[in-house]
Amino acid sequence: MTRSGPQGCLVTVEGIDGAGKSSHIAAIAQRWRDQGLDVLCTREPGGTPLAESLREAVLHQPMDALTEALLVFAARRDHLVHVIEPALARGAVVLCDRFTDATFAYQGAGRGFDTAVLTQLATWVQQGREPDLTLWFDLPPEIAAARRAAARTPDRFESEALDFFTRVAGGYRDRFAATPQRVLRLDATVSLDDVRTQIMTSLEQRGW
Ligand code: TYD
Repeated sequence: MTRSGPQGCLVTVEGIDGAGKSSHIAAIAQRWRDQGLDVLCTREPGGTPLAESLREAVLHQPMDALTEALLVFAARRDHLVHVIEPALARGAVVLCDRFTDATFAYQGAGRGFDTAVLTQLATWVQQGREPDLTLWFDLPPEIAAARRAAARTPDRFESEALDFFTRVAGGYRDRFAATPQRVLRLDATVSLDDVRTQIMTSLEQRGW
C-alpha cells in the first residue's frame, strides 16, 4: 500500500485533564474526512464494549495502582486487537484520545507506579505498535485546574489535587523529551481558536 498523508497511521492526543484536547478531535477528524480518508475516532481507556466497562471501573471505583495499571493495559489490549489494528490494516487513520503516554504520565508519574513494569506491560500488550504522531496539549497544571473547576462532576483522576497533576504534567514532559520526533507540542494556554490554528498549521506543514 502506498501511504499518503496520515493513512494507516495511529495518531494520539494527550495532555492533563483540563487541557482542552477533546474540543479539537472532531475538527481534526473532519479535516481528514474532507481529504477522503477513512478516519476512526476512538479513546482510551475504552473503544470496545469490554474496554468501556473497564474504563467505568478505572474512573469510578477505588483500587490500588497495580490494579489500575493492569486494567488500563487490559483495556488497551482489547482495543488494539479488536479495533485499532484492524482499522490500521485497512488503511484508516486512527485518532485516539489518549494512549500509553497517559499510562506513563498518570500511573507512572502521577501514582508513582514502577515505570519499568509499565514498559514491560506495554511491550506485551502493544507488540511493537506505537503512535505515529502524538498531539500534546501542554498547559500549566494551575491553569488546567481552574478550567476543570468550571466543568462537570470530577472522576477519580479529575478530583486529584494540584500536586498530582504537576507530577502527571512532568511525566508527559519527560516522556516526550525522549521521543520529540513523534510529538507535536501545542501551547494550550491560548484560546480554542488559536489552538485550532496551531493544529491545522502544523498538520498542513506535514502534508497531513
Ligand atoms: P479523559 O480522556 O480526560 O476523558 P474525558 O474527556 O471524558 O474526561 O479521561 C480519561 C482519564 O483516564 C484521564 O483522567 C486520564 C486517565 N487515564 C489514565 O490514568 N491512564 C491511561 O492509560 C489512560 C488512557 C487514561
